Amino acid sequence: MSHKEPAAENIVVAPCHPISRWWPKETVVIVTGANKGIGFALVKQLAKLGLTVVLTARSTIRGVEALESLKTEGLHVHFFGLDVSDPNSIQAFVSRFQEAFGVVDILETVVIVTGANKGIGFALVKQLAKLGLTVVLTARSTIRGVEALESLKTEGLHVHFFSLDVSDPNSIQAFVSRFQEAFGVVDILINNAAVSFNDINENSVKEAETVIRTNFYGPKMLTEALLPLFRRSSLAGRILNVSSRLGLLDKLKNPKIKEMLLDEENLCEEKIDWMVNLFLENVKNGTWKSQGWPQIWTDYAVSKLALNAYSKVLAKRYKGHGLSVNCFCPGFTQTSMTGGKGTHTASDVAEVIARLVLLPVEELPTGKFYVFGSNHVIYSKL
Ligand SMILES: NC(=O)c1ccc[n+]([C@@H]2O[C@H](COP(=O)([O-])OP(=O)(O)OC[C@H]3O[C@@H](n4cnc5c(N)ncnc54)[C@H](OP(=O)(O)O)[C@@H]3O)[C@@H](O)[C@H]2O)c1
Repeated sequence: MSHKEPAAENIVVAPCHPISRWWPKETVVIVTGANKGIGFALVKQLAKLGLTVVLTARSTIRGVEALESLKTEGLHVHFFGLDVSDPNSIQAFVSRFQEAFGVVDILETVVIVTGANKGIGFALVKQLAKLGLTVVLTARSTIRGVEALESLKTEGLHVHFFSLDVSDPNSIQAFVSRFQEAFGVVDILINNAAVSFNDINENSVKEAETVIRTNFYGPKMLTEALLPLFRRSSLAGRILNVSSRLGLLDKLKNPKIKEMLLDEENLCEEKIDWMVNLFLENVKNGTWKSQGWPQIWTDYAVSKLALNAYSKVLAKRYKGHGLSVNCFCPGFTQTSMTGGKGTHTASDVAEVIARLVLLPVEELPTGKFYVFGSNHVIYSKL
């Protein structure tokens, strides 16, 4: 290789004092392409200085050989396979590295909140942004989403906006691919978006299909599409489905369906779909009032009943595999869903949700149903 010296005016001489230790004891250094050449020599040098060194190489055989040769010199370093030209290899390396060294900075924790242009979702985005997380605010209307973003900006809070209509599979697909391009990974998903078309004392099921599609199939489809992107580090990925007490099993009087939902061992997605389709059929043929479905906001309650059941199935699927799945009922909250009525505000709720989704991993449950209480949160089996 021909070698040309840079022009003199472009040369800055790097300081090169003898090394004296300034770094903390546990300083972790990653060196890529380190099975030979400069990378290998550097790993050796850093290991001699007592740093925690991660030697990476694209070939496992060559990487392990390098590791073994260092061992013969009494030097102990860590090895991980990493091909820097392959995005999948990078992602796999980052998650294995995180698992081994547990260095996840809260600032890099990526959280997605759906239906976040107003109400509880908006308050939650604000709370999480204040805590310094990387927050993705999503909303079905771009105008309302951008307005929310701008209003946060006036408070000095910077979040990311993506449009997402959870009732539309195309919108979900477009969101997931744009999100993947921008962030690659997600740590926390909060399925908050939902609709109800009833005033507080009404119980019409005219919009049952939209309610089920938005409140049950929406979070389910989004979750399934995002599952491969969960970082699942040693700190665990977290999914929180904002649900409602109206969808708890004690509101359901139909014995056959109750029995099916209580049989956790055999509960599966097909059975939940069957239940939802049965409800929609009952709505169509006008028999829904006599079939033992929940009696308050029936279509909404069935959508949350299905969401709770799906959360239970998902929690079981990922138990012990770095992903916790829980539901949360915010209680009677002053938002547009309740016509502004309620016993507490959206920001009271946001404060509690933030605490729950950021629980230390050893205190993080899965498959639970949290309920917002006046001065504490209780949780029970889903
Ligand atoms: N408020 C309560 O008392 C209460 C009680 C129990 C549970 N909850 C639950 O709490 C969550 C938040 O509700 P909230 O009280 O904050 O109600 P809200 O103020 O009406 O907010 C609902 C949010 O969901 C969005 N949304 C609706 N359909 C959507 C779709 N297809 N795609 C994307 N976003 C959509 C709305 O967007 P638009 O502005 O575009 O409509 C809005 O941002 C819901 O899951 C609700 O079921 C609320």
